[in-house]
Amino acid sequence: MKTLLAISSAPNRDSNSTTLLEEFCRGAETAGVHVERVHLYDLHLPYFDYENRKAEPADNVANRDIKKMEEFLINSHGLVIAAPVWNFSVPAILKNFLDRISYIGRVFKHKKSMHKQPNLTQLHCYYIFTFGVPWYGWLFDSLAYYHTTLTLWYCGGKNHGLLKASDCGNGSTNVVKNRPKLLHKAYKKGRWFAQKYLQENSL
Ligand SMILES: Cc1cc2nc3c(=O)[nH]c(=O)nc-3n(C[C@H](O)[C@H](O)[C@H](O)COP(=O)(O)O)c2cc1C
Repeated sequence: MKTLLAISSAPNRDSNSTTLLEEFCRGAETAGVHVERVHLYDLHLPYFDYENRKAEPADNVANRDIKKMEEFLINSHGLVIAAPVWNFSVPAILKNFLDRISYIGRVFKHKKSMHKQPNLTQLHCYYIFTFGVPWYGWLFDSLAYYHTTLTLWYCGGKNHGLLKASDCGNGSTNVVKNRPKLLHKAYKKGRWFAQKYLQENSL
């Protein structure tokens, strides 16, 4: 059974992006995929620096969680990342996660080469972004997806799509849990993604 790694980068478990992510995961599970759910706020991920860039020693408290994520990334065939757009970018916790996996994202594969090569070439990727600014900010919000999708592409991942949800608020107003059509769309996208890219005989 192939594994889909599902990463949520919002602080709250009932947030809009995490709710859509959960629907996506439920859809993927109906297609027979094992889903590994990770809430970034549950991890201990000190900011990237030149001491921890290689995440060694692995049993150091600053490295344990990133090592676990490294194992998930290497052993998964699918990755779905969900995030709210914050200040036309991604939440710092997601950016830091992407920075911290950069040492496994590209590695030296050829002895004579001076350049690192993409290392996550088995990963099929999908993204879920929620946002709240009026329409005139949407173009700038797209910077958040470009950063994230480009980073995964640079590491070898294959990007297959993006589910966006506008007009998302916090708390009780404008929440996706009151939008059954959108929830169903996320569910269907998860099933489609798993069927197309993560079943045994898929691409
Ligand atoms: C610190 C912060 C910055 C935000 N910046 C933006 C922004 O630049 N663009 C936008 O469309 N929405 C912005 N929002 C609104 C959030 O994107 C929106 O509330 C969020 O998508 C809801 O999803 P969530 O429940 O998963 O957090 C911001 C919200 C916060 C808390």
